[in-house]
Amino acid sequence: MVAAMMNVDFQNCFFFFILLCFFSLFCYSLFLRKPKVGCDLPPSPWSLPIIGHLHLLLSVLIHKSLHRLSSKYGPLLHLRIFNFPLLVASSASAVYEIHRTHDRIVSSRGLPPIEECLIFGSSSFINAPYGDHWKFTKRLIVTNMLGTQALERSRGVRADELERFYTDLVNKAVKNESVEIFEEAMKLSHSSIYRMIMGKSFPEENGETERVRGLVAEFVSLTKKFVLAKKLGVSLFRKNTMSASHRFDELLDRILQEHEENPDEHHGTEIMRVSMKACRETKRITRSHIKSLFVELFLAGTETSAQAIQWTMAEIVKNPKALVRLREEIDSVVGETRLVQETDLPNLPYLKAVVKEGLRLHPPSPLSVRTFQERCEIEGLCVQEKTTLVINAYAVMRDPDYWEDPDEFKPERFLASSRSEQAEESREQSLKYIPFGSGRRGCPGANLASIFVETAVGTMVQGFDWGIKGREVNMDEAIGGMNLTMAHPLKLTPVVRTSNLLIPSFL
Ligand code: HEM
Repeated sequence: MVAAMMNVDFQNCFFFFILLCFFSLFCYSLFLRKPKVGCDLPPSPWSLPIIGHLHLLLSVLIHKSLHRLSSKYGPLLHLRIFNFPLLVASSASAVYEIHRTHDRIVSSRGLPPIEECLIFGSSSFINAPYGDHWKFTKRLIVTNMLGTQALERSRGVRADELERFYTDLVNKAVKNESVEIFEEAMKLSHSSIYRMIMGKSFPEENGETERVRGLVAEFVSLTKKFVLAKKLGVSLFRKNTMSASHRFDELLDRILQEHEENPDEHHGTEIMRVSMKACRETKRITRSHIKSLFVELFLAGTETSAQAIQWTMAEIVKNPKALVRLREEIDSVVGETRLVQETDLPNLPYLKAVVKEGLRLHPPSPLSVRTFQERCEIEGLCVQEKTTLVINAYAVMRDPDYWEDPDEFKPERFLASSRSEQAEESREQSLKYIPFGSGRRGCPGANLASIFVETAVGTMVQGFDWGIKGREVNMDEAIGGMNLTMAHPLKLTPVVRTSNLLIPSFL
């Protein structure tokens, strides 16, 4: 009897032991086992079952969480979100290694396409894989909008819009009203980019301008949430994103139709007209491509530029010495009888340095996302095909190995090196400054963006004293989202500085 009982117990124990072994093996293979790849994966923090490293990215700002992790584990970091592998690069040398040998295979974003959506949809430029369509469209954009010659042709448009920006600020100053810097900067970038694309101003009638601006804001915010959720494998915000996309699509159809019916109302070189000609004559670009391109150029260029203007002004207001030096430079180069212009910029090195430093500390797009199209090795470490590459520009531009006092606002650091020193700077060194991304998918609008930010900041410093009510400038960053925005939008009161300056006629 006892023997029989022992036999049963032994059988039970053996059964549970086998079950436990299988269960452990299952857990190990599901959650812990690293794929067999023949070389080491980059360092990685401990992960949790199923969600991987998601918990490390949820609590605060993603670029800051990643910065902290890379300070601990190194500039090339392997993470896993559910089943999706991520490689995070956080130093100039890591970014250099990736582009030096693998630029082509990281030249596609590879975000899951949102079928019919105007952004990241099947006709998207920003999400287009690296290939013939992307190359054709990039040439079109550079030749007709963002290249040096195209920018010279559209200089008058930006001069008009800058004057309007200045006039609006004077109006507010006369009424002693305070100004939300981001709002004013958005109006400037919206109207300038709209005119540069369309060859005519925003439609003013029937509140159309406000409607377009509202739609853009809604679309931007929804798309960001939708793409982030989709990247994490969850389908959220789809219905609302598609509804905003359809409304935008209808609006663009009307604009394109009007363009086709009244071609003489527009100037001859703007990108919309050239694209439509290419659509009719070469069929290399469709109407859907053109609509997506319009939306993506508009979205990629407006909020980023406005954020950069806001952050730079916040730093200037916080650093009175920089303000004094900037003003002295502008007054001595431009004088006190006319507004700063684009053609003055090459003679304003300190203004350029201030803007560069603002973008270094507060890059509006701190994370660039790409996808490895093939398996490869970086510095002897293995990266699997389809791994998402995240380049953390925020961490790269605050790396103490490359930047002295990396967290301080010191525009002088960009004045130190002479032109010949800059020319000799190695490619690796140059990748320590990447607010506009890097490699062949880097931002094609970098020159235009610098012009926007430098002229807007120059105008505000030249034309006004700026008062801030009560507290100091609050430099906290807003939580949630992939962009670097101010948690407390900068609100200042302008006071007209000199009445000699090209003042609008009503004063
Ligand atoms: C301060 C302003 C701006 C900043 C900080 C900025 C930053 C960036 C960054 C970080 C990227 C991703 C680069 C990468 O993946 O490596 C990008 C891409 C892009 N930007 Fe900008 N940008 C700015 C202004 C503009 C403007 C004014 C335009 C044009 C109107 C523009 C058009 C684009 C386009 C079309 C892409 C996608 C390029 C491609 O996929 O090939 N950006 N930008």
